[in-house]
Amino acid sequence: MRKDLSALRIINYPDPRLRKVCKPVEVFDEELAGLAGRMLELMRESQGIGLAAPQVGKLIRLFVCNVTGEPKDDLVFVNPVLSDLAGHIEGEEGCLSIPDVTVTMQRAASCRMTARDLSGKPIEKKAELLMARCWQHECDHLNGRLIVDQMSETDRIANRRKLRELERSFKG
Ligand code: NI
Repeated sequence: MRKDLSALRIINYPDPRLRKVCKPVEVFDEELAGLAGRMLELMRESQGIGLAAPQVGKLIRLFVCNVTGEPKDDLVFVNPVLSDLAGHIEGEEGCLSIPDVTVTMQRAASCRMTARDLSGKPIEKKAELLMARCWQHECDHLNGRLIVDQMSETDRIANRRKLRELERSFKG
């Protein structure tokens, strides 16, 4: 693995890179594949189900996910676009960039996504429930949106101390 990839780490709230609108990927090369591979590794190490490129400081429209933990279920999406958002369902969400914080989020129950794979080939997939939730969460990351943006008063109170700790320990 290239040295710069092995040095990649998950960055935490309130790092301003998590607030950027990410740029579309234009070049589908080995470097991109290497990045996706490293992101899958970091996601697995942290026992997450999804990880978006800005969470490792790369401001491009790419995310990885795996909702089962089985290596065969690894998915990589480049330049994803969600459509056909249908229904709504409330559920608790965490984020690898905001450790120990959970927020009750309203999400569409099902959705469709068009994207590119690592070779630039168009792909189209549908998801529901957990996978649909994961896709919506990761696509939010690509637009600089985080779960802390939509906290209810209850969530705000429950998470206040942890968020302050993260803000204090952040070295910008
Ligand atoms: Ni997240």
